[in-house]
Amino acid sequence: MEKQFTSILMKWHKQTNTREMPWKGEPDPYKIWLSEVILQQTRVAQGWQYYTNFIKKYPTITQLARAKDQDVFKLWEGLGYYNRCKNLLFTARQIVNERKGIFPDQYEDILALKGIGPYTAAAIASFAYNLPFAVVDGNVFRVLSRFFGIAEAIDSSRGKALFTEIAGKVLSKKEAGLYNQAIMDFGAVVCKPFSPSCHKCPLQKHCVAFRDGRVNQLPVKEKTLQRKHRWLYYFLFEHDNKLLVHQRTGKDIWQNLFEFYLVESDAGVVWDDKSVKNWLKEQVGISKANLLYVSPLSVQQLTHQQIKGQFIRVRLAAVPVFLKKYQWQPVGSLRKLPFPKFIIQHLESPFLQKSLF
Ligand code: ADE
Ligand code: SF4
Repeated sequence: MEKQFTSILMKWHKQTNTREMPWKGEPDPYKIWLSEVILQQTRVAQGWQYYTNFIKKYPTITQLARAKDQDVFKLWEGLGYYNRCKNLLFTARQIVNERKGIFPDQYEDILALKGIGPYTAAAIASFAYNLPFAVVDGNVFRVLSRFFGIAEAIDSSRGKALFTEIAGKVLSKKEAGLYNQAIMDFGAVVCKPFSPSCHKCPLQKHCVAFRDGRVNQLPVKEKTLQRKHRWLYYFLFEHDNKLLVHQRTGKDIWQNLFEFYLVESDAGVVWDDKSVKNWLKEQVGISKANLLYVSPLSVQQLTHQQIKGQFIRVRLAAVPVFLKKYQWQPVGSLRKLPFPKFIIQHLESPFLQKSLF
């Protein structure tokens, strides 16, 4: 599976990936470094213009090193996290003064520079020198967690160690730079955090999360479980007078109770006819589903968390492969199963009684 992951991802990158960014394919370590520092805490769309402004004003590391602090900070204005800018200048000057302006070309030496962590060091080492170091961050962990179907929390120390190990294994050692750009782009445009495009994903055939219908349950995050505000969207998938149900496991709330197909989000999502249909299409390529309703917002205050959510009922013409592994419970005997109050309230709501049961 590891070999397939890498070869399919590389093929996607070379043949299908159309994402364009000004630093892509850039061999100059100074420019790569600059782009990575900007992208550490900034979105691509916002960082883009800053990057091109910097490169225009300071095309070489020597020019940056000789600039006045004030001028560099002016150019950084609005990007935030000004420590990044301070470290950038410090390190540029160090490289110019101590290394004649020549950027280090070994991973350990790059990592030793101020303001450069393992992610940025791996990016520079691989993009500039094709050294075999894998970039690892939340995006990479998400892709790996889904593809290999691993429910270890990506923000736990065990999870980080595990996913880092896998990341090293799936890295293309021969084309490390291309590979790293491939997985970054793939996580940004296909295997996105919310609503990944499984429907047109080249890895779908081998993806464990997709096969088991767990795409929206992965990756697992410890922090999510501790968050004070959570948005739970339940899809009530209905087919042949049965509803998809699922028993909750893990350390989270409502252990062992039943629920419907859950899509949890970091923030509120607008679900309407269009977005539900889009979601179904993107995720599983279902275009013939019948959206029966989107419920009003439900809110429940637990001891340490506030739960908000909605129930989205969809009648399916057929059960898609990715939902086949689930339990399908006849509507008439649904209430034999133990559900959390959040769900019971929906099942008993006047809204639902009126509409369907
Ligand atoms: N985020 C961090 N580095 C990136 C890169 N090189 N391309 C796209 N997104 C990134
Ligand atoms: Fe990610 Fe979906 Fe592709 Fe699996 S099938 S790798 S979850 S986009």
